Amino acid sequence: TVIVLDFGGQYNQLIARRVRECNVYCEILPYTVDIQKIKDINPKGIIFTGGPNSVYDESSPHYTPEIFELGIPILGICYGCQLMAYTLGGNVVSATDNSSSEYGKTVTRYNNNDILFKSVKSEGISWMSHRDYINEAPEGFSITATTDACPVAAMSCPEKKFYGVQFHPEVNHTENGKDMLRSFLYDICECKGEWRMESFIDTTVAQLKEQIGDKGVVLGLSGGVDSSVAAALLSKAVGKQLTCVFVDQGLMRKDEGDFVEQTFTKLFDMNFVRINCQEEFLAKLKGIEEPEEKRHIIGTEFYKVFWNKIRESYGEGYFAQGTIYPDRIESGKGDAAKIKTHHNQVGIPEDIDFAGVIEPLKDLFKDEVRVVGEKLGLPHDLVWRQPFPGPGLGVRVIGEVTAEKVRILQEADAILRDEMDKCGYADKMSQFFAVLPGVKTVGVMGDARTYDELIALRAVTTDDFMTADWAKIPYEILGRVSNRIINEVEHVNRVVYDITSKPPGTVEWE
Ligand code: XMP
Repeated sequence: TVIVLDFGGQYNQLIARRVRECNVYCEILPYTVDIQKIKDINPKGIIFTGGPNSVYDESSPHYTPEIFELGIPILGICYGCQLMAYTLGGNVVSATDNSSSEYGKTVTRYNNNDILFKSVKSEGISWMSHRDYINEAPEGFSITATTDACPVAAMSCPEKKFYGVQFHPEVNHTENGKDMLRSFLYDICECKGEWRMESFIDTTVAQLKEQIGDKGVVLGLSGGVDSSVAAALLSKAVGKQLTCVFVDQGLMRKDEGDFVEQTFTKLFDMNFVRINCQEEFLAKLKGIEEPEEKRHIIGTEFYKVFWNKIRESYGEGYFAQGTIYPDRIESGKGDAAKIKTHHNQVGIPEDIDFAGVIEPLKDLFKDEVRVVGEKLGLPHDLVWRQPFPGPGLGVRVIGEVTAEKVRILQEADAILRDEMDKCGYADKMSQFFAVLPGVKTVGVMGDARTYDELIALRAVTTDDFMTADWAKIPYEILGRVSNRIINEVEHVNRVVYDITSKPPGTVEWE
């Protein structure tokens, strides 16, 4: 194990991912963790992350100097490097102006005799993001990289196995960044690189078998990637002892409920329980137009139906959910800014007495979850499914939701997906879908006047969904989609394309 000690920087999860891409298992711990815990884990290496602060700021995160006495190799990145320099007696300059700050791609010169840089070009681009800088390395350290603005862009003390880099090797813009991390992990920490998804599946299945014994397990399946992979893994471990409850609120994409049912009943051994309740949901949504109110109703109703079913039939044994690593971190495990509370971690009603909660994917990143899904034989479409909002089409039918509007939207959306699949564009988009704005416009079809629904198409590219660009889909494709929707979907006479980025727009319309 390698520990990534989190000082609140924006790339912390990326560091952990890069480490795992080198087939080394790692965990992110907040800088508030007690040193005893680190001693107990006895990691092969520790990485200090960046952070938004200055080491001179009283309230900025620091760590006990004792960490430098454990005999464990340490790599400090950005703030982590400054903290290392500061704690060990070097000199960090608190920048009062911007003259020495560096942001973005920066030409950097490396000393190739240093083990960290042994396999990189002697001059290359690194990704910088700092104001303060180190102007004097601590005693015993040598300077191993420089830039025009930064006298100590990297430093090392091979004797104690302490290394520091001012730039961000985990960011793709840093040329050879991954080679530097690999050198740290393999050559300095002497990790073997044996962490593999196959071994994750084998050990997790064995653990699940042991933990569950002959008890039952119930899992809420949404048809999303995480709960589906959790279901597949549990099925492999305990087969029919697993019950998956799938609440189909009738607000999924066309035929999606059937697809989920078929996948899990045909390919996996388990009890699959599907609750069809579109009518109940639509009844609750009747007359409701305000988006947050709709979200609230759909969410509340969903959990009511779900927990009632569990109470009725499965309220003992274990409760499983598809929580993944970023869910736990974003929910406040680490120090990085809290982004949003995730729906993956749900509150269990007090009157249901489970033997325990099982989260088999809790240590994995999304791309690792996908690899596990593929290895377990889940269909490609499910493993690579785009994000889909919990309230489903309920927030893509703008205003009041009715059965007819859901049908129109499902048909139009299916055509969009079909055309995007055919032209190979589907995989280039982060997310795309149709929206029914609930606006009627005048048109002419044949020789007759029409007064019918408008469909809006939305497609975005993004890395993290916090910001997003509208996708520049070729006109021919948009034209084909528009033609087909108007010809094939009854009561639609106009199609528009949404060319708003986020911000100022959001991805969804509601
Ligand atoms: P926005 O619209 O906020 O969407 O730019 C960002 C991403 O989040 C998804 N989204 C939701 N997911 N429940 C969810 O589980 C929701 O209520 C919800 N609203 C938006 C959206 O599809 C996009 O991927």
